[in-house]
Amino acid sequence: MKILLTGGTGLVGSNVMKVAQEKYGVQLIAALYHRRPKAAWKCETVGLDLEDAASVRSAVESCRPDGVIHCAAPRDEDRLEIDHTWGWAVMVTATRALAEVCREVGARLVFVSSDWVFGNGGQPPYAEDSPPCPANYFGFLKAVGETLVSSLCPNYAIARTAGVYGPNWSDPGYEQREEGIGFGWLPNYFVYRLKRAEPVVVWTDYVNIWSTPSLASDVAEGLLALTGSDQQGIFHCCGREEVTRLELAQATAEVFGFDRGLVRAALPAEMDASRLAGKLNAPGDSRLQVAATEARLKRRHLNIREGLAEYRRQLEQGHV
Ligand SMILES: NC(=O)c1ccc[n+]([C@@H]2O[C@H](COP(=O)([O-])OP(=O)(O)OC[C@H]3O[C@@H](n4cnc5c(N)ncnc54)[C@H](OP(=O)(O)O)[C@@H]3O)[C@@H](O)[C@H]2O)c1
Repeated sequence: MKILLTGGTGLVGSNVMKVAQEKYGVQLIAALYHRRPKAAWKCETVGLDLEDAASVRSAVESCRPDGVIHCAAPRDEDRLEIDHTWGWAVMVTATRALAEVCREVGARLVFVSSDWVFGNGGQPPYAEDSPPCPANYFGFLKAVGETLVSSLCPNYAIARTAGVYGPNWSDPGYEQREEGIGFGWLPNYFVYRLKRAEPVVVWTDYVNIWSTPSLASDVAEGLLALTGSDQQGIFHCCGREEVTRLELAQATAEVFGFDRGLVRAALPAEMDASRLAGKLNAPGDSRLQVAATEARLKRRHLNIREGLAEYRRQLEQGHV
């Protein structure tokens, strides 16, 4: 099976590449944008820029893949909130081009979406068929992308993931040094501080408080399973257990054997909302259900401690 992968320098995409090559021997072609991988890739590459829909079309036309896993997304999510023309181009126009060209060449399209299509009301934990209720423009653009993919490409899967953490195998040694407003990279950040015996003061307001965080290699397994499947529709490729930020920090300390006493919730006075000024609104609660996805794919996702233990093993052993 020949797979075109976008976003291979990113957290999710680098894990798709690693899992596909180490465990399944899949033929991959990786789309390159701006960064060059620091660890060598053993695959062909093709240029692709989401700002240029013609380059999206020509990458697929030249590769003629059986499947496309679309992990690429803008890295500057804050800019999406203020520059809607740019956001629409990279997340909607590019997705339309990808869905149309996949239909034309007969490729299956696996579109990576986000738990942030939810969070503005509704009833968490959200099921695969819950109506989207995004809290920000990023989530809105993802919801539009999902709709385009399902209506334009007959052979498709939408894979929503959430709060991804783990090694970025294209950039080994990268450390996450700041707490973000979402759950993405949070355990990376906790490990960075706790292994230096530095306190972790967890934000408990203004940010994403509840989620179903996901180990990147487990997400990659789900995306590869979806690429090889003939099932259409929306799937939740994320951890199977919900958690708060504070609980996740405490679990990280326990699983990695760090001092749990270093973890505490931020006091109200420590939550300086001005630090978040200009940033996008985070949904407070973006928990996803996975029961229907697990049943359809006959695959059990990792819970919190299983994911963290596997993350620790990957850091120690350097492979998935
Ligand atoms: N991380 C999370 O917690 C999380 C949660 C929910 C959903 N997701 C979704 O999962 C997917 C992968 O996320 P990630 O965390 O792996 O992202 P990431 O680490 O930020 O990587 C983003 C990837 O997209 C590429 N990219 C950015 N702008 C591009 C452009 N204009 N043209 C082509 N490629 C471009 C980047 O290339 P360069 O390296 O060259 O810039 C990089 O490979 C995204 O769709 C994201 O929305 C992630």
